[in-house]
Amino acid sequence: MKIAGVVRPPGDKSISHRVLMLAALARGKSELSGLLTGADVKSSARVLRQLGADISRIQESGVRVSGSRLLTPSSRLNCGNSGTTARLMLGILAGQRFAATLTGDASLRRRPMRRVTEPLKQMGARIEERGDGLPLTIQGGRLRGLAYTSPVASAQVKSALLLAGLTGGVPVTIREPYRSRDHTERLFAHLKLGIHERDGAIVYEPASPSNVPSFQLSVAGDTSSAAFLVAAAVLAEQGELLIENVGVNPTRTGYLVVLQRMGARVDRVNLRDEGGEPVADLIAKPASLNATEVSAAEIPTLVDEVPILAVLASRARGETVFREVGELRVKESNRLELVAANLRAVGVRAEARGNDLHVEGGERGGPPRGKVETAADHRLAMAFAVLGTVPGADIRLSERRSVAISYPTFFKDLKRILR
Ligand code: S3P
Repeated sequence: MKIAGVVRPPGDKSISHRVLMLAALARGKSELSGLLTGADVKSSARVLRQLGADISRIQESGVRVSGSRLLTPSSRLNCGNSGTTARLMLGILAGQRFAATLTGDASLRRRPMRRVTEPLKQMGARIEERGDGLPLTIQGGRLRGLAYTSPVASAQVKSALLLAGLTGGVPVTIREPYRSRDHTERLFAHLKLGIHERDGAIVYEPASPSNVPSFQLSVAGDTSSAAFLVAAAVLAEQGELLIENVGVNPTRTGYLVVLQRMGARVDRVNLRDEGGEPVADLIAKPASLNATEVSAAEIPTLVDEVPILAVLASRARGETVFREVGELRVKESNRLELVAANLRAVGVRAEARGNDLHVEGGERGGPPRGKVETAADHRLAMAFAVLGTVPGADIRLSERRSVAISYPTFFKDLKRILR
């Protein structure tokens, strides 16, 4: 297979949620371009509209948001498949003087929410929950400041607490075991919202005035979506791929570090800044890969890339181990078990041992062939679709529609760059 051409990944999912939310909280009109048009971002837009925000149709070319004071919703807020919508909105709602009920699809209703609701309760939010998940009802109001050490390195937890600090007008200090993606901090800094770092902790102190200013911002391409294109280039036999406009925030690009260790070089050119985020064009080429060990400290910087890295590891020489990836059990699916089971289903030796993922690489078993259960998880569908580009492979996905969550044109783009 030959790789060629130029491709632009869709807007960054994490940043798209955050800019929409902050624009909805701002007084005045904001203009956002390059937003992801995927289903998850539409879930955030829908929920914010239910709370009174005026948001134009979500399209890449531009979205106008007229922010205002949020209003009591007349019905339940459905966050669809989106964990980021649910958890970050809980933070925003904690600082509002009304009650709202959040729910989501079957996958989201299985995902843990206590990691966010516990610290929000410590801040003074009242939350009615039946178990560790949605649906739940939050009654926001007058909040207290919080100094919190999070047991998980989760940007969703961290961001929820920062947003609660912002909407409640109270200081928040957060420590996390490893640094998770820092888009919320960067956006707060970009909008001069009183964020800084002190002794390794992230500190929010309400600025004065504490109002969020309206803003204009162009969202960088999603490096997590680019990772699938990079992987397709690495697995190809010849050629080169130019991937334009990719966010290269170091809290997100751990997969490029791991790939380099495995023997694949991805060049970054045309480095620039977009709304406080580093952006570059990537040049990816075929490579022959060696196994590696991915440490627990690296996992937050590549947490969404474990499925595609595991797929690449299955084509590398030797056994690759991903340490401490238990968090993958509570993503859109049980990614830890499903990555291993699906690799086995296509003839690769792979296993979850405790919280570690082991993948035996090599081509001894021949090309990957078999049926893959995506469990409607977009990142599993894309990772195994890329494995299906290996010569002689025959991968049948249980479904392909889930890519609409984060990369609606994925299959079209993949087809276009492969010869
Ligand atoms: C996200 C954070 C990550 C990631 C998710 C998006 C975010 O989750 O897996 O896809 O936008 O903050 P955790 O922070 O819970 O690990």
